[in-house]
Amino acid sequence: MSTIAVLTSGGDAPGMNACIRAVVRKGIYEGASVYGIRRGYQGLLAGEFIEMNVASVADIIHRGGTILHTARSDEFRTPEGVKRGARTLRELGVDCLIVIGGDGSLKGAAALEGEGIRTVGVPGTIDNDIPGTDYSVGFDTAVNTALEAVNRVRDTATSHERTFIIEVMGRHSGYIALYSGLAGGAESILLPESGVNMEDVCGRLMRGYRRGKRHSIIIVAEGAGSAYSVAEEIRVRTGLETRVIVLGHVQRGGTPTGFDRILASRLGGRAVDLALAGQHGVMVGFAGGRVVDVPYNEVLSATKQIDRELYDLAGVLAT
Ligand code: F6P
Repeated sequence: MSTIAVLTSGGDAPGMNACIRAVVRKGIYEGASVYGIRRGYQGLLAGEFIEMNVASVADIIHRGGTILHTARSDEFRTPEGVKRGARTLRELGVDCLIVIGGDGSLKGAAALEGEGIRTVGVPGTIDNDIPGTDYSVGFDTAVNTALEAVNRVRDTATSHERTFIIEVMGRHSGYIALYSGLAGGAESILLPESGVNMEDVCGRLMRGYRRGKRHSIIIVAEGAGSAYSVAEEIRVRTGLETRVIVLGHVQRGGTPTGFDRILASRLGGRAVDLALAGQHGVMVGFAGGRVVDVPYNEVLSATKQIDRELYDLAGVLAT
């Protein structure tokens, strides 16, 4: 009988629960025993294992967050931490560890591989910054949460004839900003990948103003700079009245969208298939409309690029 363990690590993302459910139920259906590890790699080091059964994942498919909890573990980033984690997994008889998380979590999984532990990764992060997959679990929900805020802000922006600067999450990645900005009809979208050109932002605003447009929405990814500094520069350069909203962690919570639940279920199921077939050192992803397996070295040696076509389109449509 095979033994699988599953953990969630790094920033939580809506759909992680649907993924845990898929791993547990598919694993048990295939005759494996499944352990959940609480609090990510931190919990691994502390030996926080729970044996899962079909009922442990009942009623969670619609819930945001992660029932296993999550953490960012400094100790696990050290070689000694990884060795200790590997030893714990070996002692428990785990044949394969399934890691659901972002790039830091996948690096952790690759480090465990280096210690002889079999792992399979599932991309789970609202940032959508993982190479090898078009979408990571949680991204679609985060975009829709941000979009809901953009829609609401648009009402008051129109009424008061103001310029709103909305900061969305994305430390190194502008995906949430790009998608919510395009879908929300933002006048400008500022991404870490494209840099910030305030002359262009203000030029657009003033061209719109001269045409009679009295309200605007600008979306800033947190990695592109602070929304407050963007607002101040707009005020100084144009004299327009601005307001700032930083959406923050609200984007990480909430019930996952149908897309995220299905993505999470498919990737979780595939991760179990690989684990039981003895395949490891790979991340399961979703690319070109299909579930794919991507070796860690391809995932971890690359940087996911922003979709330039979408960015250019957003710029054209916002004129
Ligand atoms: O990686 C997901 C993410 O939400 C980023 O967009 C954000 O910069 C970061 O996590 C925030 O991390 P924390 O919750 O540790 O403050």
